Amino acid sequence: NKPRIVVIGSSNTDMIVRLDRLPRPGETLLGGKFFTAAGGKGANQAVAAARAGGAVTLVAKVGRDLFGDQAVRGFEADGIDVSLVSRDAREPSGVALISVAAGGENSIAVASGANARLSPADIRRARPMIAGADVLLAQLETPLAGVNAAIQWAAAHGVRAILNPAPAQPLPDALLHRVSILTPNETEAELLTGVSITDDASAARAADRLRARGVGTVIITLGARGAWVANAAGQQRIAGFKVKPVDTTGAGDVFNGSLAVALGEGQPLLDAVRWAGAAAAVSVTKQGAQPSAPSRRAIEALLRRGSP
Ligand code: RIB
Ligand code: NA
Repeated sequence: NKPRIVVIGSSNTDMIVRLDRLPRPGETLLGGKFFTAAGGKGANQAVAAARAGGAVTLVAKVGRDLFGDQAVRGFEADGIDVSLVSRDAREPSGVALISVAAGGENSIAVASGANARLSPADIRRARPMIAGADVLLAQLETPLAGVNAAIQWAAAHGVRAILNPAPAQPLPDALLHRVSILTPNETEAELLTGVSITDDASAARAADRLRARGVGTVIITLGARGAWVANAAGQQRIAGFKVKPVDTTGAGDVFNGSLAVALGEGQPLLDAVRWAGAAAAVSVTKQGAQPSAPSRRAIEALLRRGSP
């Protein structure tokens, strides 16, 4: 019995160049190989959830173009329900230009295209799916109106809603109140709280501020250091897995997609965070966002061995 996960969000085609380091403004750097990979935070999370063992429906918008065709074929190959992936007649499919440095860190420029047209009307069509889901998962790469409508519908139907506030933008308290789990990274948590996160104590301070604004559970992802988990029961850091980073693009997405599955199948919160951390760690050892999302077997292998 697979947990039913509905993911609302973006789909992009990622255009990636590997470099020794990231270019500075105005600078031209000669880099390594160019490659393309399926990306977009929503689609990455959907693919991660499907590979981790979820029955996934993706609510997204792509263009009527080759990138859109290719994206949808990829979702189908991962067994994702694409009946709510619509095609926009006006805007092209989303594209992300990504530089990846030798250490694995990246910088990303996104042309949203059709993603920017995912509207509350599209969410209305997804209502029965959301109401019947175990977990709703959303990010901020599509317009906030739709994200808000989806989370509102989920909350009204007792469906757990995970919001990954990426890329960061200020959020109204009314929305935060309806979110079951908020999963910012350090930068996003800082933008939302004004607390710059440098250690466990500052992570705790940021989490307190978010909880004071109405979020039940806050999970701040800390990269290699793991994740800070805070809710009414208390707060603590769940350690990360040590891996050799190749490409961190989409690691947060893999964390969120696999977290949704773990929670949807009833794993306790801290176990689910460890599980999702293992999934993200595996993804960091491979190039590309969607290509690096691990199978359930690979996640469990890392959890057993403790290192890849
Ligand atoms: O989170 C990583 C993703 O952000 C990339 O796949 C890119 O498409 C951007 O949306
Ligand atoms: Na990766």
